Amino acid sequence: MAAKLLAWYDREGRTLPWRIRPGAEETPDPYKVWLSEVMLQQTTVKAVLPRYGRFLGRWPRVEDLAAAPLGDVLAEWAGLGYYARARNLHACARVVAEEHCGEFPSTEAGLKKLPGIGDYTAAAIASIAFNEPATPVDGNIERVMARLFALKTPLPEAKPEIKAMAASLTPPDRPGDFAQALMDLGAQICTPKRPACGLCPIRPDCEGLAEGLAEVLPYKAEK
Ligand code: ADE
Repeated sequence: MAAKLLAWYDREGRTLPWRIRPGAEETPDPYKVWLSEVMLQQTTVKAVLPRYGRFLGRWPRVEDLAAAPLGDVLAEWAGLGYYARARNLHACARVVAEEHCGEFPSTEAGLKKLPGIGDYTAAAIASIAFNEPATPVDGNIERVMARLFALKTPLPEAKPEIKAMAASLTPPDRPGDFAQALMDLGAQICTPKRPACGLCPIRPDCEGLAEGLAEVLPYKAEK
């Protein structure tokens, strides 16, 4: 399943400025991966796109961001919402610059100790920037997993099971690409409504589709 998904991602994955294209020689810059993941925490890809490059142009390295006055960072964040993220971003840049010699920790556990980095973001940075065997699970990936395994347990109860499923599928050689491939599948094909199952590269593996449940999964507990 992972091999088919990665082959699709190499062909059809979205080209986004924080990604390295397949076959590229360069390795991802953890600072840029971190910035993109924090911006994407509660903001859509479309809204982040014009802001990401601007931000990096102003503060190209973590030391530059750490040295900036908080007010400048908050002003640059204007319109992205959830200003606690911008405060944490600035606090995190200071910790990395001052206590880690400007280098982000490479493990999930190390990343999680930093301001504003929770389970999801730690796994995203560890896998995408450092090729660590971690699997970030966001709403898109939850939906893909629930459908793939025809999981009937409702959310949020299903979360631990979904995490374990995603981890068990993650290929050790390309964990970051695998996570981003699942994100793209969830955004472009395995959409909440009217999923494009006919175009799905892992259609033969999908138990939800086989059971006629692709569109209705995941189930959600009543609030
Ligand atoms: N949403 C959160 N992280 C993302 C990423 N790396 N690519 C696309 N969408 C995302």
